[in-house]
Amino acid sequence: MGGIFREDGATVFSIDYVPEKTPHREEEIEELGGYLVTTFERGDFRPPILIGPSGTGKTLVVIKSLERLRNNPMYGPHIITNIVNTMITNSTYAVIKNIVSLLSPVPERGLSISDLLKRLESELVATGRKYVVCLDDADDIIRRDKGRIVYLLTRINEAIGEGLIYPIFVVRDYKTILALPDYIKSKVGGLMMKFNPYTRDQLKDIIAERIEKGLEPEAITSNAIETAAIISERIYGGNAREMINLIYRSAIYAEKIEAPYIDAEIVRETFYYTFYNNIVEPLGYPHREVMKILTMTVDRDRYIVTDKDVEEIHSRVMNQGLTYIHVRKILTDLAEKHGYLLLEDDFKHVFIPRRIFQ
Ligand SMILES: Nc1ncnc2c1ncn2[C@@H]1O[C@H](COP(=O)(O)OP(=O)(O)OP(=O)(O)O)[C@@H](O)[C@H]1O
Ligand SMILES: [Mg+2]
Repeated sequence: MGGIFREDGATVFSIDYVPEKTPHREEEIEELGGYLVTTFERGDFRPPILIGPSGTGKTLVVIKSLERLRNNPMYGPHIITNIVNTMITNSTYAVIKNIVSLLSPVPERGLSISDLLKRLESELVATGRKYVVCLDDADDIIRRDKGRIVYLLTRINEAIGEGLIYPIFVVRDYKTILALPDYIKSKVGGLMMKFNPYTRDQLKDIIAERIEKGLEPEAITSNAIETAAIISERIYGGNAREMINLIYRSAIYAEKIEAPYIDAEIVRETFYYTFYNNIVEPLGYPHREVMKILTMTVDRDRYIVTDKDVEEIHSRVMNQGLTYIHVRKILTDLAEKHGYLLLEDDFKHVFIPRRIFQ
């Protein structure tokens, strides 16, 4: 076994791993941290809202901003931070209880929400510390209780007249915020941060640290990385988690088949067998024939279909009465109708392994 992962290299691909570097999210980390510090001083804090699709780095930005805040010699000692995953801690009561229990033990039963909130207030007033709490993945909880959790958390500061609790809300869907009643909506959004899906080039920058720390040198080719980045951009909507996962699974697969390194073909196989085989439709003649030849013509570690490849494919089907124009038309169909190829400026062979034709 071996040759692909470094010793303990798999850990950097786990969902708990917090990367050292955060390419393309440095500004957001600074912005969120900066907003907190500024409003600590000015006293005009309104909960920031982070919005964006899955895998765009929202949770990571919160983790990093809060980490820097805790390490800040001026603010760190006076701050408590907490990131609550509201998909798991998924009721208003459970969230409030989670928040309070970081300050003092909460009995299993017997306390109402308002008891808990009173306790939170008195604990915060007593210690004089600022409590920054992020409600992560908050779409469901906000929708379900019609913003009550937002209301309750913003009201505490109003009630005691000083900034003690600093909520941050993370959602995937802007509509979650739009649907809030006006009197709640007006209390939030001091900072609105929109997260866009990552592009393939950004995904390559993001994966670099995991590859460097997790894999042996030369364990993956640049075309394999490019292939995974294209798939993650086009099929997974620019989701960094999927990019990390695809590289991780490719590495496991490469070790299993004792490949010397991960090439583009291994990424195609991993992708196809973990995901795409449920989606792709069977092909009839001549599309199947052309696709099969293409998978053999484009070398294992390539993904761009060159003009030379198209000529080569054509030369192999000429005897079946297919013209060059035919072949190009079939390739276009394979991309546009069947999802076997990707058509950009050129045809890209990133989805389908040759093994399915063998
Ligand atoms: N810019 C980045 N640099 C390094 N790693 C990143 C970056 N962005 C995201 N990641 C990694 O990608 C994974 C997904 O990121 P994150 O959990 O922050 O996404 P999210 O926007 O919170 O997604 P979701 O809405 O599904 O919770 C994490 O493992 C994270 O460490
Ligand atoms: Mg998240």
